[in-house]
Amino acid sequence: MSVFQATTSAPVNIACIKYWGKRDNTLILPTNSSLSITLSQDHLRSTTTARADPTFTETTLWLNGKVEDIKSGGRLERCLAQLKKMRRERIEAKDPNTPKLSEWNLHVASFNNFPTAAGLASSASGFAALTSSIAALYGLSSFDPSKPSVSSPSELSLVARLGSGSACRSLFGGFVAWEVGSSPTGEDSLAVQVAPQEHWPTMHALICVVNDAKKGTSSTSGMQRTVETSALLQHRIKNVVPARMQAIEKAIKDKDFDSFARITMADSNQFHAVALDTAPPIFYLNDVSRSIIAVVEELNRVSYEKTGHLVAAYTFDAGPNAVVYTESRNVKQIIEIIVRYFPQVESSPFPDPFNLFSGSQPAAAPLPEGFNENVAKVWEVGSVKGLIHTKIGDGPRILAESEALLASNGLPK
Ligand code: DP6
Repeated sequence: MSVFQATTSAPVNIACIKYWGKRDNTLILPTNSSLSITLSQDHLRSTTTARADPTFTETTLWLNGKVEDIKSGGRLERCLAQLKKMRRERIEAKDPNTPKLSEWNLHVASFNNFPTAAGLASSASGFAALTSSIAALYGLSSFDPSKPSVSSPSELSLVARLGSGSACRSLFGGFVAWEVGSSPTGEDSLAVQVAPQEHWPTMHALICVVNDAKKGTSSTSGMQRTVETSALLQHRIKNVVPARMQAIEKAIKDKDFDSFARITMADSNQFHAVALDTAPPIFYLNDVSRSIIAVVEELNRVSYEKTGHLVAAYTFDAGPNAVVYTESRNVKQIIEIIVRYFPQVESSPFPDPFNLFSGSQPAAAPLPEGFNENVAKVWEVGSVKGLIHTKIGDGPRILAESEALLASNGLPK
């Protein structure tokens, strides 16, 4: 008896123009367009195996080994229903001899290679991996641009969006826009690629994982409160984001790091201003986050005075962690300065995936001439509890059978 199974992995994405606010909470339609960079799956990824079998008595999802509740009428169920509909209409209806996978229950196992405790959003890569694995299982996509597919990545982004808004952007590699759309059905609220990863190979990302015990407000409930109470959000939607989307797309096409950095930092700051403008206010940044902002701003100030160019751009999502974008020629200096202000825990050394420090740990660098060292204090060891250094990456990948998360009996390995 044949086994119907597929395994895919999908990347994390970090927005430069932030999605914050829904005009439809069920279909997850945003109040503004957004734009993100897809990070490399070599470092951060969600992997999902999906299997359809007529003998499965129910559909079950295991997330990092634990069974997840599939709530009726919930996000997960809507994604599954949409994928089944696509399988039925686009494949089974056209060929009566093809197995009716859409009528069978599924076993789905998903795993994030980064700890949820790191505070990195896993819903984007998670829902993108879920969507891509089932799309591969159902024969909807080859995930290979050189081969034809029944459904394009943009069409699959519509499905991932039903799981979590930001997930739609993880269906592509490189630089990705999520277009706000205007249709009440959501058919035009989809992700498109602005530029592939190869377009800007010198772009690096450094994630500063900030130590933070408290559990913040979730994106979903936070943005709903912002939509209900913030006047600043309305100004942002109407007067700020449309022009910024155009400007950042141009900056990306021109590989103009200075413009890219200015827009990215301004948009992160406006997103956090909008959070503060919410009633009651939402605080995602903490004192460590604000010190990272101060250090990057001071580095940019000194660099701009000397060379007329910026060296780094920070951005923060719904939590205190920073993502710092920078280009190859500056990345070593940025790491050394971050390590100087935020000394690393010896027991969790910097992994140095690009071997910048030839086997040793980054040492605290001397500050560039003219740098005002008092912009931030030197923090206690572990205030930034880890640094993840990565680059721009590709979209979902189909993985080999050997990487499947389900054993031959259909249960997690
Ligand atoms: C701050 O996509 O997690 O990261 O659609 O409710 O699942 P839901 O929200 P989610 O929100 C992400 C918000 C953000 C900005 C962004 O990624 O654009």
